[in-house]
Amino acid sequence: MARHPLSLLLALLASVFTIAYGFRVPPTPNIVQRDENLPARVPYVFPPPGTDPIADAIRARRVNGTLLALDGALLNSPLVAQGWNQFFTVIRENLTIPADMRELFILRTAALNNAAYQWGQHESVGRSEGLTTDQLLVIRLASQSALTHHDKKVLGDSLAAALQFADAITESVYVPRDVYDNLAKHLSDQQMVEAVATAGSYNFVSRFTVSLNVDGRMHEEVPIPQ
Ligand SMILES: *[C@@H]1O[C@H](CO)[C@@H](O)[C@H](O)[C@H]1NC(C)=O
Ligand SMILES: *[C@@H]1O[C@H](CO)[C@@H](O)[C@H](O)[C@H]1NC(C)=O
Repeated sequence: MARHPLSLLLALLASVFTIAYGFRVPPTPNIVQRDENLPARVPYVFPPPGTDPIADAIRARRVNGTLLALDGALLNSPLVAQGWNQFFTVIRENLTIPADMRELFILRTAALNNAAYQWGQHESVGRSEGLTTDQLLVIRLASQSALTHHDKKVLGDSLAAALQFADAITESVYVPRDVYDNLAKHLSDQQMVEAVATAGSYNFVSRFTVSLNVDGRMHEEVPIPQ
């Protein structure tokens, strides 16, 4: 059957588009989106499935195999994206600190750094790892200098110690001895290394996502948990 001239024209336009934009085409529309993909300060690079082993390795650990706006920004530098994926796979999947503490480090860091994208990706993860709305409210709103009696009661001893640790490492880099020892009462040496790696690396995530305006959210306020 002869092809309609219009379909030939469309095919021509499609190939011109592919040549012009290479891999920088939007992700397949039938894949569920988690982000708005509002413009960042760099173009998003979303290689189609099966065309780029680094992007495919990232897809393999994303919910529904969907690349995030974060991934599209990272993939401007493939080896940074690859190293990031390997490191954060360990942080997310292979630590021995409690999962709710891991998510507290991530969310508290996001709150202090006003990193709305980071908070947005992790609020639901925090809930699924057991953080309650009351705990999320403390993580979002508690004063840095002094946790109230209420805050401590809501978090419990080990999460309160983790929050004060996250505050020190984020706000001043220098972690006072009492803050360190207070967390170390609850964790092994291996876990202290993991705590530092988590709180430290998610400060990197904040800086990456805010500096590059990932998902167009650099000016957004971190939401108050409902
Ligand atoms: C994953 O896909 C399912 C089915 O399409 C959908 O209901 C769910 O919301 C998706 N999850 C995310 C985080 O996009
Ligand atoms: C890391 O955790 C994942 C998921 O639980 C597991 O499949 C993998 O084997 C672990 N990796 C190592 C090196 O322990």
